[in-house]
Amino acid sequence: MDKRDYANSPYSSAEKKEINILLLGSGGREHALAWKIKQSPKVGQLYIAPGNAGTSSVGVNIPIAATDFEALKQFVLENAIDRIVVGPEDPLVKGIYDFFKQDEALKQIPVIGPSQEGAQLEGSKDFAKAFMARHGIPTAGYRSVSKDNLADGIAFLRTLTPPYVLKADGLAAGKGVLILDNLDEAVQELKAMLNGSFGKASEKVVIEEFLSGIECSVFVMTDGKHYKILPEAKDYKRIGEGDTGLNTGGMGAVSPVPFAGKAFMQKVEERIILPTIQGLRKEKIDYKGFIFIGLMNVEGEPWVIEYNCRMGDPETEVVMLRIQSDLIELLEGIAHGNLQEKELLFDERNAVTVMLVSGGYPGAYAKGKTIDGLDKVRNSILFHAGTIAQGGGIATNGGRVLAVSSYGNSREEALKQSFANAEIIDFEGKYYRKDIGFDL
Ligand code: AMP
Ligand code: GLY
Repeated sequence: MDKRDYANSPYSSAEKKEINILLLGSGGREHALAWKIKQSPKVGQLYIAPGNAGTSSVGVNIPIAATDFEALKQFVLENAIDRIVVGPEDPLVKGIYDFFKQDEALKQIPVIGPSQEGAQLEGSKDFAKAFMARHGIPTAGYRSVSKDNLADGIAFLRTLTPPYVLKADGLAAGKGVLILDNLDEAVQELKAMLNGSFGKASEKVVIEEFLSGIECSVFVMTDGKHYKILPEAKDYKRIGEGDTGLNTGGMGAVSPVPFAGKAFMQKVEERIILPTIQGLRKEKIDYKGFIFIGLMNVEGEPWVIEYNCRMGDPETEVVMLRIQSDLIELLEGIAHGNLQEKELLFDERNAVTVMLVSGGYPGAYAKGKTIDGLDKVRNSILFHAGTIAQGGGIATNGGRVLAVSSYGNSREEALKQSFANAEIIDFEGKYYRKDIGFDL
């Protein structure tokens, strides 16, 4: 019997009660995951690689990059790690699941996250679009273009009505999408992209029809066969109020999303989630982890804008607040293929998060600014994004610094709480959007 079967056997829980977890990543998403994981009585040691000043309050940070597979291997073996939970897309797209599975010493240790092939749903827009086309999943019409069929791409652009959507095929840290009003400009940008304006990521470009509507994020966990739908969320990506200005990693999020009621979510499940899970199975793509579906609600109908192979940030900073059940139980269900036996209860309250960012972000910004007032925060949960321990205190260490998450009986009540604490926390250059949830 191999160890995986052993772990599945009825004796395993009696033999081994505590599960040692290694969580990969260093942002607000990972602090929220660590916070939720640590609430489980089943958890033994929780390590975060590399983590931040917030994760060190719930677990032990270890200074290893999430993509340094050899160093992670060493750590896992030396510290009796039982499960790996992957926060960001990078290690997944680089094949951490396969690395573990193919290694004699590591193959019994489940990685919560898809195989490298499954991670292509995020790692290649072309792959994702072709997957959706094969499985009849509603998404904008598109054409994939490389230098070889540029003329084809330009001809396709001419058939579209503005605005024009151009997407770098590969990972571009959330910045690989251009939306342009003018055809000539779109053609110029297409050429520039193919000539490397996003490096290797834009050697191939996906041209898409523009979808007009309101976005929301749906999260699914799957063991490859069964799935559970997590609380949905809406994030606010632009730096400026009223959704203006440059794109950021996310300035805040809310859950639930009022328009994503029962009727809408039923369409999402039938038209998108089911065919996605079935499509992965049919194509024998190993996928045991989270699927993040970025949706556009176009007059009540859901269309897929993108897949991600991980949880969202800052959505996780609200989704974790709304999961009442033990997250470890659910992750065990993913690892062992019995997710259908696990319970997923939602907290019915509203959850919101407001991101405090460094002045200048998403452009150039300073680091190392002392953060004051953290001890005065009441009735919010602080998730650290870009922070570092410094001289006995905590200082800024990134563009997005802290996610101030709160519960409320209404969205307004939750927002009021987060905004009050956003005022109390102080660091030089602090900025946040005061209109999170404004459009709902
Ligand atoms: P993505 O990286 O694919 O999520 O795209 C980034 C952002 O561009 C999305 O969050 C949308 O706001 C916008 N976007 C992407 N594709 C489309 C589309 N086909 N129509 C309208 N907006 C889009
Ligand atoms: N909030 C969007 C993302 O995580 O990609």
